Amino acid sequence: MSTTVNEAIADADARDDAEFVAALDTPALKSRFERDNEFLFLDEFLPSQTTARFQARIPELIDHVHRNYIPRHKKGGSVSRYTLDELAPEIPALYRNPKFIAWLESMTGEKLEVCPESDPHAYALYFYTEPGDHIGWHFDTSYYAGKRYTLLLGVVDESSSKLEFELFKNDDNRETVADARNLRPGAMCFFNGDEVWHRITPLGDGERRISLTFEYVTDAHMSGWQRFVSNMKDSIAYFGFKQVFKRNKR
Ligand SMILES: [Fe+2]
Repeated sequence: MSTTVNEAIADADARDDAEFVAALDTPALKSRFERDNEFLFLDEFLPSQTTARFQARIPELIDHVHRNYIPRHKKGGSVSRYTLDELAPEIPALYRNPKFIAWLESMTGEKLEVCPESDPHAYALYFYTEPGDHIGWHFDTSYYAGKRYTLLLGVVDESSSKLEFELFKNDDNRETVADARNLRPGAMCFFNGDEVWHRITPLGDGERRISLTFEYVTDAHMSGWQRFVSNMKDSIAYFGFKQVFKRNKR
C-alpha cells in the first residue's frame, strides 16, 4: 500500500511524539508493572501536544461513531481503526511507531506485534457521550494464539466515570487488589487483557469521555473459529456488522 502525504506527515509527527518515552523512568515503571501482575496506570504519560492532535480530530470523527447498547453490559459509541486510518492518521502512526512499541516491550519483556489489518479493534476510540454510557466488568480476552495487551489513553474526560479494576483476580493465592481511576487526557493504563478485571462506571448527565485503545499481541495468529467469535463480539458490542465483516471480506 502506498503512503499518502497525510500518512507521511503523521508518521513524522509520531516519530517525534514517541521521543517522550526516553524521559520515563523505565526500570521503576517496569517493576511496578511486574509487581501488579502486568498492570500500570500513569496519570501523566502522553505529551500534551500529542493529546491535542488527537482531540483536534474529534469533531470530524463524531459523525462516524457507531453506538451500541447491550442491556446490563454496555452502552456507548466506538470508532474503528478503519475510520481512524482515513480521518486520524496520527493515531495509527503512534500505534505502529517502533520506538513506542519498544517501550511497551520493555514493560512486558516480550516481543509485541501489532494486530492484523482484519482486526477492527487494533486501535479504536471509545465515545461515552450520553448519560449512563458505560461498560460492565470484563477481561480483554485474547482470541489470538498469544497474549493480548491493552493500552488505554485518555483523550477527553469531562466526566465522573472511572476505570475500576481488580488485579490478581485469577490468582487464588493472592488477595485481589481493587482500585478506580479517572482516565484524564494524557493518562494511560497498560495491562495484560486476560489478567485485569475491569469496567468503566456510568457517565453522568452532561458529561463526556473519549478514550483511545491500542491492542498488541505476542502472537498474531488466530484460528478461523476464534476470528469468527472475535468478529461477532466486535460487530455486536462495538463497530457494527458493516465495519467488521465487509472489511474482512476485502
Ligand atoms: Fe476492556
